[in-house]
Formats: sequence, structure tokens, C-alpha cells
Amino acid sequence: MNNFEFHNPTKIIFGKDSIQKLTTEIPSGAKVLLLYGGGSIKKNGVYDQVKNALADFELIEFGGIPANPEYAILMDALELIKKENITFLLAVGGGSVIDGTKFLSSAALFTGKEPWDILTQHIRTYKGMPFGTVLTLPATGSEMNSSAVVTRAETKEKLGMGGPGLFPQFSILDPQVVHSIPPRQIANGLADSFTHVLEQYMTYPVGALLQDRIAEGIMQSIVEIAPIILKDPSNYNAAANFMWNCTMALNGLIQKGVPSDWAIHVMGHELTALYGIDHARTLAILTGSHYSHNFEAKKDKLAQYATRVWNVQEGSLDEKAKKGIEKTVAFFHSLGIKTKLSEYTPDYKGTAEEVKRRLVSRGQTAIGERGIVKPEDVLKIVEAAY
Ligand code: NZQ
Ligand code: ZN
Repeated sequence: MNNFEFHNPTKIIFGKDSIQKLTTEIPSGAKVLLLYGGGSIKKNGVYDQVKNALADFELIEFGGIPANPEYAILMDALELIKKENITFLLAVGGGSVIDGTKFLSSAALFTGKEPWDILTQHIRTYKGMPFGTVLTLPATGSEMNSSAVVTRAETKEKLGMGGPGLFPQFSILDPQVVHSIPPRQIANGLADSFTHVLEQYMTYPVGALLQDRIAEGIMQSIVEIAPIILKDPSNYNAAANFMWNCTMALNGLIQKGVPSDWAIHVMGHELTALYGIDHARTLAILTGSHYSHNFEAKKDKLAQYATRVWNVQEGSLDEKAKKGIEKTVAFFHSLGIKTKLSEYTPDYKGTAEEVKRRLVSRGQTAIGERGIVKPEDVLKIVEAAY
């Protein structure tokens, strides 16, 4: 097992009717900016619950943060933060609203010229404006981690940022919010969280027994609840399991002491930047071809995964490993998610070259565990996903 340090300061408040607990979590005397997305919270009652809980606070609102939070829109929110002397940010939404809020937390205290530099120059955030979240869409784990991904339409870029100053102070997870999530977004949440576990697991064995078992446990739970929550998002127990699994998939715990990959995410972000494909679906497009291309490097873990998560007992190590890939792709299909790029855009030709070009231009020339994915590999992996 590799050496590690682990510190996750986010307080999780989980359960039925927990949104009202906002009242005691936000520092008294704070001037709060409530940030939200396209308006789903106004239809499902979450907005009213938040407003009730914050009745005694000085509160300003900023709505309209789109899926894949857009830099230009966030810059309008930044202006408001400065003009109104905001002291606390409250994100009410999914990964996009939370990530947008993390960017604002960092940008509000940024002393450089152009906040976009935080993303292009990999400036880590050690201190941001304090913020909390009310999660409305289980998927990204952003509610309990310190990274964010921001999009800039002008340049068709989607870049990551992070740092120890970007953990939410608290996150409220009330599984009742799941009832209004459309099937497409539930499927996305299942596929994204499942792939988060894969990215931290499907590398090579380092004898980290507990990390492996926790990762396998999360994947098994996601597989078990997927059909139930897709069929009935108002099933509270399924929603509670869905939510906690997504959080646990990317709160840093299973990544400790083990190698991680993240090549699927790095390449996937380019597909969202180029074509606007939902984040989770870009992962489903690339996972099968990435694992097939790097089969030799990953086959020990692929076989272990096939046996423990999918109960594949027959065959040689190579056969089990191949089954592991097939089962993964079949799982995405069972969620109603297509796994070929050409099923999302007719303009797929040339994508592999463009993804390769973009990664090379940013110096991302050796991604994945041990840096095994080089530009020529990116080309082949993306091409095989057409
Ligand atoms: O905008 P509204 O109207 O709220 O609607 C949203 C949005 O259209 C809707 N929605 C959310 N909660 C709902 C709901 N609709 C009905 N009922 C509810 N309770 O769902 C749509 C998608 O929301 P979004 O926040 O975009 O989805 P998600 O949580 O999947 O976030 C995706 C973003 O997170 C980034 C992705 O790249 C993408 O930009 N990621 C962030 C990560 C992180 N910070 O750790 C890791 C991930 O790998 C990912 O990259
Ligand atoms: Zn993801």
C-alpha cells in the first residue's frame, strides 16, 4: 500500500427533512449568496425549504448556472459577490452548481488578474470564501471533495481546479430531493459515480485490501440499486443508497494508498467541451475502449473486479478480465446509456486527433496510472470509441 495523508473536513448532514438544518450551519451574521441552476429547485420544493430555513439571514440570489458551469455566467456572479460584500456562498444544486460555487469561492479571494488563470495555470486554492451545499443530484461527489470543473464556451474548454481550501464547510444530503430527477440524470449519476470508483480501482494491485473491498462494495451497491431507483425515484431507501454511494465514490477515501487512473475523465472532458455530451455519457463512451487498449496493464484488477463485482467464476485470468469489460459496457447499456461516440454526434470523424492535440497542447502527454497513456494511445482509444 502507498503512503498517504487523509483530511476531509466537510460535515455531512444526511437524511429526511435535513434542509431545515441550514439555519444552524450558516454562520450567524453572514451575508449569503444563494446559487442555483436552471430552476428545478423552484418546481420541486427545495427552493422554498431553503428560503424558509434562511428567513433570518441577509440573502441574495443568483440563479441560472447551467449544466457544465459556464465561466462567463460565473463572472456575473463574481461581480455580484463583490458589489454586495457577500461573506458566505450556498450552492443548491448538482455538480454544476456546486463546482461553479467552488470556482466563485476561489475567485472571490483571488488576487491575480484574470480568474480563468486559476484553471489554466493550475493555481491551487488554499483559502476560499466559505461555502456550504444542499445537494439535489447525486452523481459527482462534489459535495464532499475539493475539486471543480469549469467550462468556457468561448474557447470550448473544460478545465479542472481544486485545493484544500475548496471543501464545502457542510453539505446537506436529503435523499427526498431525488424524486424529481429525470431518468436521464439518474442514469448519469449512476454511470458517473460507478466510473469514479473504476478510475480509482482499475489500475494494478498494491495489496490495499480494504480500499479494494470498499470500492467493490460501492460498485456492487450501485449495480443493485440502479434498476430500483431508475424505476421509482421516490423510493426513499433506494434514493438514500444512491446518494451516499455517489458521495463515497469521490470523497477521497477509496483513492488513499492506491494508484489512480483518471484518463477516462481527462479524455471525457474533451468530448463534453467539443460536443456538449453529458459528462457521465462521455465516460461510458470511453471506458470499454480504454480498458481494452490497456488490457495488459489492467488485467489483474479487471479479473478481480469481474469475479467480485460481477460474480464471474469461470475461465482464465484473461477471460475473466475480458468479461469484466463486457459487463461494464452492458451495465451502461442497462441504464439506457449509449457507448459509442457516433451515437451522440454525426461529426465524430477527426475527434481522436483533436482530443490528442488538445491534451498535448496542455502538456498532458502521459496520463493514467504510471503515465501509461501517451498521445498515440489517446488517438487509438478515442478512435476505438467511434
Ligand atoms: O439546473 P437545474 O434546473 O437545477 O437542473 C439540473 C440540470 O439540468 C437537473 N437537476 C439537478 N437536481 C435536480 C434536477 N432536476 C430535477 N430534480 C432535481 N432534484 O439536472 C441537470 C444536470 O445537473 P448537473 O449539476 O449539471 O449534473 P451533475 O451533478 O451530473 O454535474 C455535472 C458536472 O459536474 C462535473 C461535470 O464535469 C459536470 O460539469 N464533475 C464534477 C466533479 C467534481 N467536482 O468532483 C467530478 C465529476 O467527475 C465531474 O467532472
Ligand atoms: Zn465524473
